[in-house]
Amino acid sequence: MDSVSCRSVFLCLLLISTFVSISHVKVCEAQAKPPIAKGLSWTFYHSTCPKLESIVRNELKKVFKKDIAQAAGLLRVHFHDCFVQSGGPEYDIPLGRRDGLTFATREVTLANLPAPSSNTTTILNSLATKNLDPTDVVSLSGGHTIGISHCSSFSNRLFPTQDPVMDKTFGKNLRFTCPTNTTNNTTVLDIRSPNKFDNKYYIDLMNRQGLFTSDQDLYTDKRTRGIVTSFAVNQSLFFEKFVIAMLKMGQLNVLTGNQGEIRANCSLRNKDKKTLLTSVMENVVEDLIEM
Ligand SMILES: *[C@@H]1O[C@H](CO)[C@@H](O)[C@H](O)[C@H]1NC(C)=O
Ligand SMILES: *[C@@H]1O[C@H](CO)[C@@H](O)[C@H](O)[C@H]1NC(C)=O
Ligand SMILES: *[C@@H]1O[C@H](CO)[C@@H](O)[C@H](O)[C@H]1NC(C)=O
Ligand SMILES: *[C@@H]1O[C@H](CO)[C@@H](O)[C@H](O)[C@H]1NC(C)=O
Ligand SMILES: *[C@@H]1O[C@H](CO)[C@@H](O)[C@H](O)[C@H]1NC(C)=O
Ligand SMILES: *[C@@H]1O[C@H](CO)[C@@H](O)[C@H](O)[C@H]1NC(C)=O
Repeated sequence: MDSVSCRSVFLCLLLISTFVSISHVKVCEAQAKPPIAKGLSWTFYHSTCPKLESIVRNELKKVFKKDIAQAAGLLRVHFHDCFVQSGGPEYDIPLGRRDGLTFATREVTLANLPAPSSNTTTILNSLATKNLDPTDVVSLSGGHTIGISHCSSFSNRLFPTQDPVMDKTFGKNLRFTCPTNTTNNTTVLDIRSPNKFDNKYYIDLMNRQGLFTSDQDLYTDKRTRGIVTSFAVNQSLFFEKFVIAMLKMGQLNVLTGNQGEIRANCSLRNKDKKTLLTSVMENVVEDLIEM
């Protein structure tokens, strides 16, 4: 592989890959790996770009050192396109997927994602169509252990009256941040440890301090409540299940071999002119940060 394609793979991995951990919690080493999609491989770049993973890791560390919010952004891009941070599970990802020739529009992307105001039934049904089970759903929701949200994504729980499920003091504080249903402020998703990839999100839920309906309802709904509790009491279990769910999700609709293309720039199809999509992508990324 020449240096140009090694570079483009590198750019793409920035978007679709790894949960880079800064502290080294190796959780999946001893575990059976789930089956991987045909055409992908754990060692895809072994001979063509052997330093790929360390290059990506070092580059991401620099990015997060400058701006930790980038970690949540990347996690969401991975969630919603096919998904890093301080601590958290470290795992191998199957490599070799290629980039699509089509681009989901902002509308289609958003239509395919359950809204933050969705209840557990809606989310389970929506993700079951992608072969994700309730454990996967609860695990992936744990991605809300980092990141921020605009008031609009949870104003349904504050206005006209406060959701009775929500902890009273938590709700009162949210109303300082979001005094009206049109306030444009932001707040953290995980009040206990907003920048750390850990299991505190589940402890928030058990204390009725989940931000979105889609978060808090996981603890209300009998089908998922036990899973939330099990992750709240056992972080290793959360990491283990999170890795499985990420690997499952990351292999939806993969393109391999001669399918698709390798983008020179991850955010643009090779045939696209630079200027065309810039603003579309920025809008999509902005919306996705909210999910
Ligand atoms: C979940 O949301 C759907 C769609 O809004 C609604 O039809 C359903 O009644 C809700 N289920 C529960 C248990 O609240
Ligand atoms: C939120 O926005 C309002 C204006 O809508 C502003 O007055 C208030 O100080 C902001 N609060 C926080 C915590 O940022
Ligand atoms: C905000 O609340 C007002 C009054 O209840 C309502 O008319 C309006 O539709 C709400 N706006 C949003 C964005 O929810
Ligand atoms: C809302 O806040 C964002 C920054 O957080 C800003 O870019 C945007 O222009 C604001 N929108 C409005 C309507 O004030
Ligand atoms: C926590 O989960 C891990 C991973 O599944 C498991 O090995 C361990 O036994 C669990 N710990 C407890 C105290 O249940
Ligand atoms: C990739 O394309 C985006 C969107 O046009 C642009 O903002 C970015 O600078 C490009 N990156 C590189 C490395 O060319």
